[in-house]
Amino acid sequence: MTSADVRPDGTVPFRATLGRSAGLFAAFRAEQSDPARFYGTLARDTVAQLRSYTPLDGRLVVDVGGGPGYFADELRAAGARCLCVDSDAHEMRLHGREADTHGIQGSALELPLRSGAVDVCFSSNVLEHVPDRARMADEMVRVTRPGGLVYLSYTLWLSPWGGHETSPWHYLGGSYAAERFARRHGRRPKNDFGRTMYAAHAGETLRWVRGRTDVEPVDIRPRYLPGWAKPVVRVPVLREFVTWNLLLVLRRLG
Ligand SMILES: C[S@@+](CC[C@H](N)C(=O)[O-])C[C@H]1O[C@@H](n2cnc3c(N)ncnc32)[C@H](O)[C@@H]1O
Repeated sequence: MTSADVRPDGTVPFRATLGRSAGLFAAFRAEQSDPARFYGTLARDTVAQLRSYTPLDGRLVVDVGGGPGYFADELRAAGARCLCVDSDAHEMRLHGREADTHGIQGSALELPLRSGAVDVCFSSNVLEHVPDRARMADEMVRVTRPGGLVYLSYTLWLSPWGGHETSPWHYLGGSYAAERFARRHGRRPKNDFGRTMYAAHAGETLRWVRGRTDVEPVDIRPRYLPGWAKPVVRVPVLREFVTWNLLLVLRRLG
């Protein structure tokens, strides 16, 4: 990218091409063997995408459920000041990484931040892990300043990866898939249905957006899919299966 690519409002164009989706999928296949490669690739892609909605230089960004801080690294590389909030100290040290220097242990359901404190409230792949999704989304809006942005993205339950490591058996029921995993591996899955993973749908979050008067949608799209797949989020039922990961970019109104 050159300075000529930067738009007058400080945002940067981002192209959701088929090649980009294929690259993300290839990196995803290496998640277990080379997590740093996968999460580093995903974080670079995500921050490039985020910059198409908002400039990041000097902005205060909170990464809700940021885990070991791959996204925080990229957000800082893009000039943002970044805080990570995560409820699990172990997750903050995953893959042998040091806990983020600006990491706070706290819950997405009760963010330890004052209202309107941040320019961007960011969360990747966390909403499906909390028992009260509307409350987490409410909290993300609360801590975002008027004019600021909420970037909220999560894996849909009915997508092929909805059951995470218990997929595709989640299509026969989350409890069944978790029990099957436990029998086969001699341990509970990390993403354990009803305990650390829940059935998150697109329809409920879209209804939540429509029910709020203090946010306006900037973009709602399948996060990883090519741009031409975007209309699928408007098709009830089908969207739950093929969107894979739903991204909502919302502007907080004054
Ligand atoms: C699948 S990981 C996602 C990590 C990172 N955001 C990413 O996209 O790679 C889910 C993260 O959410 C965190 N988490 C789960 N429930 C949470 C809660 N109630 N409050 C804050 N963080 C939570 C977990 O500890 C974990 O780090």
